[in-house]
Amino acid sequence: MDSMEVNKAIAAVLVAGIVFFVAGTVGTNLVQEHPLKTAAIKIDVPEAKAPAGQPGPAELPPIANLLAKADVGAGEAYAKKACTSCHTFTEGGKAGVGPNLYNVVGGPHAHMEGFAYSAALKSKTGPWTFDELNEWLHKPSAYAPGTKMSFAGINNDQERANVIDYLHTLSPKPEPLPAPVATPAAAPAAANAAPEPAKEPSIDTMLASADAASGEADTRKLGCVACHTFNEGGKAGIGPNLYGVVGAPHGHMAGYNYTAALKGKPGPWTYDELNEWLTKPAAYAPGTRMTFVGIKSPKERADVIAYLRTLAANPEPLPAK
Ligand code: HEC
Ligand code: HEC
Repeated sequence: MDSMEVNKAIAAVLVAGIVFFVAGTVGTNLVQEHPLKTAAIKIDVPEAKAPAGQPGPAELPPIANLLAKADVGAGEAYAKKACTSCHTFTEGGKAGVGPNLYNVVGGPHAHMEGFAYSAALKSKTGPWTFDELNEWLHKPSAYAPGTKMSFAGINNDQERANVIDYLHTLSPKPEPLPAPVATPAAAPAAANAAPEPAKEPSIDTMLASADAASGEADTRKLGCVACHTFNEGGKAGIGPNLYGVVGAPHGHMAGYNYTAALKGKPGPWTYDELNEWLTKPAAYAPGTRMTFVGIKSPKERADVIAYLRTLAANPEPLPAK
């Protein structure tokens, strides 16, 4: 964790604390979901390093829920008003004061070749996720202190989500939108709606009748191909190449920059683990960068896993019945 992130984290914890206190006072606990997660990691950090007298980034509501009801048209109109003095949005559009923004969602930070980005932005690792764009557009100077983008930020949560929704359409293959997350109030309903994993046949049973050819077609239908290649020696895209992944260690592609969430998983990718992962990546490896909701249908999941299994010189044996 670099010191900028530590500062951000401390600020987040401080703000979370204040918000939590205020929330308690007025008798609502709307904001309880995030603080715990953040606080658990930061407790040891000396308080002296916190930015003095400067309010940290506010706890933003989950972007996924805002994106679910975002309005692309309103986002485009907002961008035309607030961003076009510095940015173009068309494919191959020229840089102005700021870089062209075609295909920025899911692309790396500082994604436009030849644009003279600040070190502040250039040094950010990983792709522009929906969450990071949310933080960035809320307050660029807080997300990347020292950035050249002299734009105050979009305070209104829904307007920000509208703009991000619009940015996400500027691509030949738009990133899938993140799945909405349950808020405390909505949790019981979501829990009821979630399919009972116990009712599902085991992956071993499913694999016995799975169809690898349908699985291959499913990887196109479900959009895996937007982020992954499957051929031997295929290049990484947004996600790693998947040749030989079954039976290989988690984070199996040499040189690919995996999250600790995924890379930290011990042991090989068994059928069971792939089944869990593809049911809901964010639940299997919280913090993963694979922004894919998951495959709902057990049959499709088994077909996809059966297809992944064939991507090897010597495919792993199917589970014994
Ligand atoms: C005053 C000019 C200006 C305005 C207005 C502005 N930007 Fe920027 N933007 C920049 C500059 C300059 C950069 C490069 C920042 C850096 O290198 O630190 C940038 C960078 C970005 C990036 C990162 C691009 C990349 O390749 O990583 C995104 C996304 C972005 N702006 C979105 C927006 C949106 C959306 C708006 C309107 C709501 C907006 N900007 C308004 C100047 C501006
Ligand atoms: C939006 C892009 C995206 C989509 C869509 C996507 N993935 Fe991924 N996938 C990723 C990323 C990024 C990672 C690395 C995750 C990490 O490091 O946390 C990954 C990792 C994986 C891994 C683990 C690879 C390893 O080496 O450990 C498997 C398996 C996988 N994806 C399968 C799939 C399948 C099957 C689909 C379609 C049903 C799919 N993915 C859809 C981006 C995507």
